[in-house]
Amino acid sequence: MLSNLIGDRALAVGLPAAKRIAGVVTRLLPIPQPTLMVGPGASGRLGQAVGGFGHRQVLIVTDEVVSKLGLLKPLVDALAAAGTGFTVFDEVAPDAPIPVIEKGIEVFSREHCDAIVAFGGGSVLDAAKVIGLAAANDRHPRSLVGYFRALRGPVPIYAVPTTAGTGSEVTVAAVISDPEREKKLVIADTRIVPKMAALDPLLMTGLPKPVTAATGMDALTHAVEAYIGYWGTSFTDRMALSAVSMIYENLPLAYNDGANLAAREKMALASTYAGLAFTRANVGNVHAIAHQLGGKYHTPHGLANAIVLPHVLRFSAAEITGRLADLAIHARLGNEGESEEELADRFLDSVEALAASVGIPRRLDALRESDIPALAKAACWEADTSYPVPRRMTQDDCEAILRALLPPEPARRSTPAAKRVRKKAVAGKPAAGKKSGRRRAPA
Ligand SMILES: NC(=O)c1ccc[n+]([C@@H]2O[C@H](COP(=O)([O-])OP(=O)(O)OC[C@H]3O[C@@H](n4cnc5c(N)ncnc54)[C@H](O)[C@@H]3O)[C@@H](O)[C@H]2O)c1
Ligand SMILES: [Fe+2]
Repeated sequence: MLSNLIGDRALAVGLPAAKRIAGVVTRLLPIPQPTLMVGPGASGRLGQAVGGFGHRQVLIVTDEVVSKLGLLKPLVDALAAAGTGFTVFDEVAPDAPIPVIEKGIEVFSREHCDAIVAFGGGSVLDAAKVIGLAAANDRHPRSLVGYFRALRGPVPIYAVPTTAGTGSEVTVAAVISDPEREKKLVIADTRIVPKMAALDPLLMTGLPKPVTAATGMDALTHAVEAYIGYWGTSFTDRMALSAVSMIYENLPLAYNDGANLAAREKMALASTYAGLAFTRANVGNVHAIAHQLGGKYHTPHGLANAIVLPHVLRFSAAEITGRLADLAIHARLGNEGESEEELADRFLDSVEALAASVGIPRRLDALRESDIPALAKAACWEADTSYPVPRRMTQDDCEAILRALLPPEPARRSTPAAKRVRKKAVAGKPAAGKKSGRRRAPA
């Protein structure tokens, strides 16, 4: 117990210092940005461009849903017209499980591929990044987990996102899942950023409403966490605030009318802007918790973020009032000159309202009381070791946040002791000494 306490205190003091240094390094790190093609038909135009690069055999990584919807046609037609060979690997499953990636590596090597087109949601894009990196280094994906663990970069990767959420088309990260250990794992390397990406709203008109909602809320979470964390730069702030404006305006439109091409295109752009923000400024406590829920219960990533986001924002609110006020202004919820506290409150309420308007539940049915201590421990570790959060979560704080997500009785089996704990738990325990938080200049 005492050693836990000492460990916790050491973490509380030592890690913020280490993370501030990492923040400076990240600020200086050159992160490549892909050439973007935007608009209806962009996936075919990307196919024409890739066809012109002289690749011999392109591996198209996708999933069965995307493949069966026929979304690949403009790309493969363009590659065929250019005389470029291609192989379609369409077995990626949600959250890019390691066994699927192993299969993809086999196909890549067997076909002697010299480029990859990742065509699908974040799971596909991330699987493709890891297939490329693992194949180039003849390494198992597990051995690449962490930062810059590979010697060589992958063959050129081109990306066609078919969801508007992860921003993976511009990020240094790939999130994969280890089904054996019920864990999500992050691989980060600047060399896995795609060389070119097509944001094509025509591919997104058939996205089911729950996927539109969850992925859109993932993009919002990226923008918000990048903006409230302490690694932000003027560029990431600008990207994050633009993404928030676009998401508040267009997510309900895309959700209510999936065929609204203008709204789909704006959501795709917002997702990319949020990706550009968080690939440098990183994410925070919301992602730290959501990754555990995804690993344990296979909760779709965006859904987990959407359910957790309001709780983490209320938990951190006293530290970031000024920044929440900025977000409120960019979400068009108020004007400069109004009180920061009022604007911040309005933003907190609006996040819940936006999530509800796109059918996001407030609780997580799969969550079990008995899992909470281990989930919280893993989330705190991830946040402590990786993310520049505005307020550090202790084990108790994180457990309280998770308990607020438990489904209502009788959707769960629970002990009387657990019920007593839940009654006591208050997710939004205010921080000592309310501060306004550094307010950044609006973009
Ligand atoms: N690399 C990063 O920077 C980053 C950032 C955030 C999240 N992620 C990871 O990305 C993954 C989630 O990606 P996602 O949210 O895009 O979901 P996803 O890729 O798992 O796709 C969700 C579902 O939508 C379907 N789908 C995809 N495109 C479609 C379309 N156009 N029409 C109809 N159905 C379609 C898929 O088949 C799948 O069933 C998670 O593993 C998450 O951790 C990565
Ligand atoms: Fe995310």
